Amino acid sequence: MSDRELRVSKIRNGTVIDHITGGHALDVVKILGITGHEKGPITIAINVTSKRLKAKDIIKIEGRELNPEEVHKIALLAPHATINIIREYGVVEKEEVKLPSVIDDIIKCANPACISNSNEPVRAKFYVDCEEPLLLKCHYCGYIMEKKDVLQQF
Ligand code: CTP
Ligand code: ZN
Repeated sequence: MSDRELRVSKIRNGTVIDHITGGHALDVVKILGITGHEKGPITIAINVTSKRLKAKDIIKIEGRELNPEEVHKIALLAPHATINIIREYGVVEKEEVKLPSVIDDIIKCANPACISNSNEPVRAKFYVDCEEPLLLKCHYCGYIMEKKDVLQQF
């Protein structure tokens, strides 16, 4: 390592979200509800160089694992992200996020007139038309949601 590099600490137990699409780390921070008042260390790296991607973001969180809903939300914004589970400094699990072909109830339809936004007991449901650029089609009203519509909800 040259004196131009700064090595970011490894974590002991927790989660490293790697290969986040450059520029989306702070959106992922919102998805995870990170407030800055957590006890353990959290590292957020934005626009660092990567072999695979033009620029990537990384988030390292000590003492936390993610639930499937959080992973699906991350996949909406960062379809190439990798979730690494760390135990005693070792990577014990590495999973590339994957969007299911049908998204149930983790986001709302952006069409205010959609039945899924009414008082009827109808839960939002979308089909993934395209992962990148993101296009989600509402099962009920056919409205096509883009990444910016999804970002507004986080
Ligand atoms: N990492 C960490 N703390 C550890 C172990 C790993 O912060 N105790 C981080 C690494 O810095 C890296 C990510 O977790 O950002 C994945 O680690 P690893 O699989 O060892 O790295 P790569 O082989 O480069 O991963 P990939 O093949 O997914 O690019
Ligand atoms: Zn709708």
